[in-house]
Amino acid sequence: MVTHSRLWLSGVAGLAALAAAANDAIITSDTYFYGQSPAVYPSPEMTGGAEWAAAYEKAKALVAQMSLEEKVNVTGGVDLGTGCSGSVPPNKRLNFPGMCVSDASNGLRNTDLVNAYPAGIHVGSSWNKDLARRRGAAMGGEFRRKGVNVLLGPVVGPAWRVARGGRNWEAFSADSYLSGSLAAQTIQGVQSEGVQTSLKHYIANEQELNRNPGVDEAQAVSSNIDDKTMHEVYLWPFQDGVRAGTSNIMCSYQRINNSYGCANSKTLNGILKTELGFQGFVMSDWDAQHAGVATALAGMDMVMPSGSKFWGSHLIEAVRNGSVPESRVTDMATRILTAWYQFGQDTKFPKPGIGMPYDVRQPHETVEGRDPQDRSTLLEGAIEGYVLVKNTNETLPLRSPRVISLFGYSARSADSSSPGPGDMLIYLWRYGMTPVGLDSALAGLIKSPGSRLPDIAINGTMMGGGGSGGTTPAVFVSPYDALSVRAAQDDTALYHDFGTPKPAVVGGSEACIVFGNAWAAEGYDRPRLSDNFTDTLVNTVAGQCSKTIVVLHNAGPRLVDGFVDHPNVTAILFSHLPGRESGTSLVKLLYGEASPSGKLSYTVARQESDYGHLLKPDEPAGRFKKFPQSDFTEGVYLDYKYFDKHNVSPRYEFGFGLSYTTFHLANLSIQRVQGGNSGEWPLGAIVPGGPADLFHDIALVAVEVRNTGNVAGAEVPQLYVGIPGGPAKQLRGFDKPFLQPGEVRTVQFRLTRRDLSTWDTAAQKWRLQRGQYAIHVGTSSRDLPLQGTLTI
Ligand code: NOJ
Repeated sequence: MVTHSRLWLSGVAGLAALAAAANDAIITSDTYFYGQSPAVYPSPEMTGGAEWAAAYEKAKALVAQMSLEEKVNVTGGVDLGTGCSGSVPPNKRLNFPGMCVSDASNGLRNTDLVNAYPAGIHVGSSWNKDLARRRGAAMGGEFRRKGVNVLLGPVVGPAWRVARGGRNWEAFSADSYLSGSLAAQTIQGVQSEGVQTSLKHYIANEQELNRNPGVDEAQAVSSNIDDKTMHEVYLWPFQDGVRAGTSNIMCSYQRINNSYGCANSKTLNGILKTELGFQGFVMSDWDAQHAGVATALAGMDMVMPSGSKFWGSHLIEAVRNGSVPESRVTDMATRILTAWYQFGQDTKFPKPGIGMPYDVRQPHETVEGRDPQDRSTLLEGAIEGYVLVKNTNETLPLRSPRVISLFGYSARSADSSSPGPGDMLIYLWRYGMTPVGLDSALAGLIKSPGSRLPDIAINGTMMGGGGSGGTTPAVFVSPYDALSVRAAQDDTALYHDFGTPKPAVVGGSEACIVFGNAWAAEGYDRPRLSDNFTDTLVNTVAGQCSKTIVVLHNAGPRLVDGFVDHPNVTAILFSHLPGRESGTSLVKLLYGEASPSGKLSYTVARQESDYGHLLKPDEPAGRFKKFPQSDFTEGVYLDYKYFDKHNVSPRYEFGFGLSYTTFHLANLSIQRVQGGNSGEWPLGAIVPGGPADLFHDIALVAVEVRNTGNVAGAEVPQLYVGIPGGPAKQLRGFDKPFLQPGEVRTVQFRLTRRDLSTWDTAAQKWRLQRGQYAIHVGTSSRDLPLQGTLTI
């Protein structure tokens, strides 16, 4: 029987209690925090459930033949000398070939003959569910061909609480609903190819600073969250992922309410395995395990990259001396092997790690990961994630100009013999290579990881971010490569100066394109949201060129107030992280072969201070120096909800993006749906994702979208709901119809019980309140011309 303690931090009161103690003596023992994260034991055993039933039976039969040692073996990683991020050892006696698990959510890392896909932020800005699914399926195919059983992604934590968060770009959006929708599609896409996903990082993994223990002898930062915020914001996209059937979930590095992510019985046993009825397994992030018995009892099922430190022989001993019941180990192995059967990895799956040579420079079996059929997904995915935020004086699209000038280090590839710049640091660390083509700042960083991250990656264009989500594509087209080809076709003279900080512009330039980037890599939060070097470059060029187009590759919000009001800065394109088709997609947009259709999946402020306390990571301080605290006092008010609440007007709001055509939305209709449970509380049995009737439709909202301009394009109609007592508006529906000029389409949004509910902390259930719900439909979070009311 699982008990729900009420000690769970209750809102700001609990957080204030922590703050009040700030002047007393330094805390040196974690017993101080005892009870902040409630104890939920024992760990629920999997039950199989309808969809996993057959796989579960097979797994039970296999596990029944295993000794304790054999069961423990499948729970811990080993180094098999491959390039897999982690490996589960084979069991020859039982014909289990083991598993290869590898990064990450933007493509397969650390090997040859693979693609770099548009990164999470790019997919988020495309607002395209179909593309998200296709991208997932394409990546799944590559991972399968390379013998990778588990794709370590997608990412929905961080939830972008911190604007400067170093890993936000790996995730889709600062909004939980958008993020959860795209994660679900990605999971279904990847898993449709027989590759398991590892939805990560569970949960509240919001900053890189102090993400791990050991910095100045401090423990990892604790994300202190109240129960309501936990459910309504941070859990939301994980819930979508569990419902979509993710095979496993990666527990995170940092602490939650002062209990480590991989030893937290409330979040693992309680929320994930009880409330959400999760039937898969929980895998640790790399070296995120800091205790043996505690992690086993808290619900962790697999440790990576190595089981030997806390589990392995220690887990066997813990079972033998009664500290961990053998049934818990049986459940771990059963969960892991059920997932393996569920995705057909017992048959027709390549040898684990077959396409993952440890060192691609040594002779090895060549396994092609790419499938030529995925090229349209790569290109369309790249095109749709750009967001055009300014376009005046008929600047874009370009029409066969006679002379164009290009500026900025970020227009071209760093070094054609090097891996993609996004993965540069990891690649260099791994292979110990000389940092060819890197500027001194970056080289310095490599010598002493942990030093300050440079604002920009001066070594070249940026098609992805750095760290375990970085990719090393076999084929890559930079903006300069693609523009050179197009200019030659059009007989356009293409001048460039990529190096001079304050360049002179060639006379007669009809358009000047300035490239810059805003870099991010795992392990660091971003130092700033803009950089002086690029702002100065833009202003210098704009001073001499009446049509200055700014192309920014950005791994998170990038402020533009350093140049946005310059009258000659006539176009700005947030280019995010497009992957291998970076140059090709950019040319298609600049020349109008495609109309921009991306929308910001986060808010761009006018100045850093507009993000308030959500700008930067929390630092260890005062009494909590050894136990850094990050108090999520803003509750559910992140990103646009924060800006709305505090009446701060953004530079570019969440959901905003321009097109080359125009759209008109009309005829809003709101209808109640009969038949489902629309009472105050869900009554259904728990299925993966929560009570079955939590997902019943309560209302249907429809709107007509018309392309009123002269070119074809896609619009993203967005539905926001004002739930009584909650934020003024929260995204609860979106679609992306592609329309020819004059074409009109009706789009429908289904509002489920969950979409309209709030988490009731006393009842520990989602509650559908009686009352009036404000309905807003439009084309950005601040352009919502259609209004209505839904009465429940
Ligand atoms: C640590 C990262 O946090 C995680 O995202 C990644 O999958 C693992 N390392 C494996 O590389």
